[in-house]
Amino acid sequence: MSAAAPRSVWSSRWAFILVTVGSAVGLGNIWRFPYMTGTHGGSAFVLVYLLCVALVGLPLLMAEILIGRRGRGNPVSAMLKVAEENGASPWWGVLGWVGVLGALLILSYYSVVAGWVIDYMRQIVSGVKTVTPEAAAQGFGDLLADPLRLILWHTMFLALTVGVVARGVLSGIERASLLLMPALFAILLFLVLWGGMVGNMRAAWHFMFDFKPELLTGQVVLSAMGHAFFSLSLGMGAVMAYGSYLDKQSSIAHNSFWIALADTLVGLLAGLAIFSLTFAHGLEAASGPGLVFQTLPLVFAHMPGGQAVGTFFFLLVLFAAWTSAISLVEPFVAWMTERLGVRRAIAAWGTGFAVWLLGAAVCLSLNDWSGWKLFGLNLFDQLDYLTSRILMPLSGLAVALFVGWIMSRENVRDEIPLPAAHFQIWRWVLRYVTILAIVLVFVYRLTNPDS
Ligand code: TRP
Repeated sequence: MSAAAPRSVWSSRWAFILVTVGSAVGLGNIWRFPYMTGTHGGSAFVLVYLLCVALVGLPLLMAEILIGRRGRGNPVSAMLKVAEENGASPWWGVLGWVGVLGALLILSYYSVVAGWVIDYMRQIVSGVKTVTPEAAAQGFGDLLADPLRLILWHTMFLALTVGVVARGVLSGIERASLLLMPALFAILLFLVLWGGMVGNMRAAWHFMFDFKPELLTGQVVLSAMGHAFFSLSLGMGAVMAYGSYLDKQSSIAHNSFWIALADTLVGLLAGLAIFSLTFAHGLEAASGPGLVFQTLPLVFAHMPGGQAVGTFFFLLVLFAAWTSAISLVEPFVAWMTERLGVRRAIAAWGTGFAVWLLGAAVCLSLNDWSGWKLFGLNLFDQLDYLTSRILMPLSGLAVALFVGWIMSRENVRDEIPLPAAHFQIWRWVLRYVTILAIVLVFVYRLTNPDS
């Protein structure tokens, strides 16, 4: 598409919802959310998380889509245009840049983890069985210790991702989501049913939903809010870019509601499926990042039909990661095509190459280069820390300030034609509650550096 061609518009409102749910539902829901729930003691984390989605996530999701649609361009141009329209400083364009580049930083390690998923899928398909916890730990350790194996799968995953983005907004991104997302929902429902039949669903339910106020700590609130940002793809231009292809008639408020609901449900259902199987085998939920890569392979090895179920499980994670990764490439590719007039395919593969290089360094940071640390973190953890703990909350805060306080009420109202009372509630929450919540969490973090 040349710079002068009219911009694409999603073919329907459901296409937009599916594509954005595709961005939101990812490793965050199926890998991170369950293990964070596990390490934070279960229900306290889940309940705070739900609160964060309602008071911070949903209002911000609407705000980001709004900027994208109003600006009708990649995040950088959209920010500049909407800032100008509202008489604000062009410095707001920096917010677009933080998103576009931050998304590529996320992708560089996201793609490495997605690579682990492909490796595990290959293992389970070819009949590898992990029978003891020691073997599971050993297997995971062996993978992380092998730079070439990591880079191979990272390369493959990134190629899959870039290949879709290169084909275009409609024939690439929309088509992929329309195929992958229904398959993802079907697999997830099957796994939950399976967990209900052969697993310990009752224990999983109590673990996730029993109210235990004694587990509620500052650390839990902090992680829950960080995860709400990550899971809803907020603060990194992804949702803004997708919103820029949304037609003017479609309701941002209603679409956002469905997107946030679907994303949350997928996390909860994945948690129920994973914990019911884990508990049925007497294993611990609190195993951290290894939950999906060490605990589950053990479960699959001991379960009737485990090979098939395990294959489906890793396929589910792969589909989820794939559609999310696509949304991390799109903002920068949109900028290149629109601003530099580069052909989409070239922009996509060029961007992919840059991310590939950084990702290869991430692979090495887990083994050969693990001695190289900054603030005690290797490159993998640095990128994760920088993006999820600093960039996402800060740019989320900036988005809330911009839409809540800088944009004129009329312009915002024009994009959100809700009944007046609903509009007022949303805007009030965004202007006060969302902003206050992010600031409090940020200050808490600064004053408690270990958290
Ligand atoms: N939301 C995705 C997940 O849960 C990850 C993701 C995709 C993302 N795009 C993003 C996170 C943009 C932050 C910003 O796995």
